[in-house]
Amino acid sequence: MGEAKARALEAIVKVAESLGAERLIRIEHAHISGVSYGTIGEPGRRFIEDLYLSGARVSVPTTVNPIGFDDADPANTGGILKVDKDFLEGQQAIIRALTGMGANPVLTCTPYKTRSFASLNLKPGSHVAWGESSAVAYANTVLGIWTNREGGPLALLASIAGRTYYYGVHIPENRIPSETYRVEIAPVDEVDAGVVAEILAETHDNDRPPLVEMGLPPEPYRDIVLREFSAALGAAGNISMAVIPGITPVETRGMRPGPAIEIEARLIISRRKDLAPGNPVDFIFLGCPHLAADDLKILDHYLNGKARIPIIATLSRDAYERAGDHIRRLQAKGVRFIRSTCLIVGQLKSRDYSIATNSYKAYFYLRRKVSSVGLLSLPALARLAVNP
Ligand code: F3S
Repeated sequence: MGEAKARALEAIVKVAESLGAERLIRIEHAHISGVSYGTIGEPGRRFIEDLYLSGARVSVPTTVNPIGFDDADPANTGGILKVDKDFLEGQQAIIRALTGMGANPVLTCTPYKTRSFASLNLKPGSHVAWGESSAVAYANTVLGIWTNREGGPLALLASIAGRTYYYGVHIPENRIPSETYRVEIAPVDEVDAGVVAEILAETHDNDRPPLVEMGLPPEPYRDIVLREFSAALGAAGNISMAVIPGITPVETRGMRPGPAIEIEARLIISRRKDLAPGNPVDFIFLGCPHLAADDLKILDHYLNGKARIPIIATLSRDAYERAGDHIRRLQAKGVRFIRSTCLIVGQLKSRDYSIATNSYKAYFYLRRKVSSVGLLSLPALARLAVNP
């Protein structure tokens, strides 16, 4: 099937051997992360371009993570990102090569929310190879789609080979939880869930997933909480899956391993206090992971008036196109939308920003890049924006 595919397969086999995997398995989808020129620079660009020029083509449906700017309008920086000529050129070359190989440039870390992904109709139990730790944890925990946490290059090679190694959470026994944790607060909001994920990352020391008994709010807010929880799990540690009774598509009755370890309310409340914004906030950041179209309805609902603190919202082109009237309404209320990128994979104009967000993952990555980052839930951020 050609030199390029042989090379990709050879790399996958080498990794499989080094991990002691007994065989390879076919995958039905791949998601490639690590594609921002700001993150991978010239070496990453060369790696991807060389693959493309050598004739490599993806052999399963493949989606791509966010890049360093709004590809629908590079001049749209929300007033906080910078995009110079070299950056633009390097980033465009990466996307050209990936698209040339047949990848679908959805440019989002929530590929599972796009129309093209829905059309694949993947069933729970499907094997995929995804980069992007937030999507990996969501896939395993919520969608029941099975994936290890791949690095960007390996996800790309797996998509070319159409296979990954039978290892980690691709093996059914490794998806059986090893310990039970019970969260004392119910229902949790997305900030509580981020704190719970941080505690799990520090305490759960087993390759098998934790079983997390956690009271969740009703839909549609529930899905925001689950995405933020998954993103925080991936950011704070290397947990690629949790089992949540009633959410994870597995039979959990009779599965509760051991006596439950309590995650006490006082611990969550005190950590939340530490993480709350302390300084006057320059802007509010929403959309880590990328906002889905339905989230904009929720934001529109909570934002009761014109925001006096700007709100920067990052999302996919797909979500932007589907959100309909909410985009215009929210823009009128002071929300600035940036597609296909985020504040972490894009380049911030200044290090002096003081930011408030509802995303533990954004806090985790931005805390060393800007002067301060504080965490509040979406309704609290909406109130803060209108009444600073
Ligand atoms: Fe997505 Fe950027 Fe957060 S890629 S998960 S919005 S760091």
